[in-house]
Amino acid sequence: MKIIIKKDYDELSREAARIVKEAVQTKPDTVLGLATGSTPIGCYRELIKMHEEEGLDFSQVTSFNLDEYQGLPADHPQSYNYFMYENLFNRVNINPKNIFIPDGMTENVEKFSKEYEEKIKEAGGIDLQILGIGSDGHIGFNEPGTPLDSRTQLVKLAESTIEDNSRFFEKKEDVPRFAITMGPQTIFEAKKILLLASGENKAEAVAKLIEGPITPQITASVLQKHPNTIVILDEKAASKLKKHGRNSF
Ligand code: GLP
Repeated sequence: MKIIIKKDYDELSREAARIVKEAVQTKPDTVLGLATGSTPIGCYRELIKMHEEEGLDFSQVTSFNLDEYQGLPADHPQSYNYFMYENLFNRVNINPKNIFIPDGMTENVEKFSKEYEEKIKEAGGIDLQILGIGSDGHIGFNEPGTPLDSRTQLVKLAESTIEDNSRFFEKKEDVPRFAITMGPQTIFEAKKILLLASGENKAEAVAKLIEGPITPQITASVLQKHPNTIVILDEKAASKLKKHGRNSF
């Protein structure tokens, strides 16, 4: 894993966008794996700016989103589908036919999940996967205890995730209890991975991701074995690292 520590969220976002831009320019039909949550919003904002000001072209890009709440229709303001259109897709020239997001309303999750995996394969695999990290060390919605070799499936959200994500809903009871998510194995197969973490509340998860053992209790830790992962942190998210001090980079 390559660790990059930036001063703050804005710098982190600019660095992340620079890496995505490079991927899209080098391979215009890049397959991106995309994440939701508040962390990648700054990166998406930068990409929109690059599209508007420099003509960064997304017309041949394909995207696969990591996860979606079960039971929320695509037009629900808290669905990840809605999030992606609001924060990126509506503002760049990606072809809607090339956008794939798990369907939170599917009646046959198992079939859907298999087909989602198939589609990723048919697209040639994910070239660059963007990730955030949950405060319990999850990637996607792969909560502690998820086997590291599992693939896209329906999962039950951990109490801490429901608590964390309740800030986006009117009340905690409104947060869905289940979600469809790419599995750690699906994520691991991406050719390149870019994990972003910002703020003090991620510092512990980040320390475990980078310096702890590889364990299903911290699903992000599987990335320690990945040959091409970049972790971009701001100083607060990096504050609990022991070996990777600020000066080592
Ligand atoms: C959710 C998403 C994850 C995301 C995490 C952290 O659980 N499923 O993909 O990384 O939230 O979100 P935030 O970036 O808002 O802290």
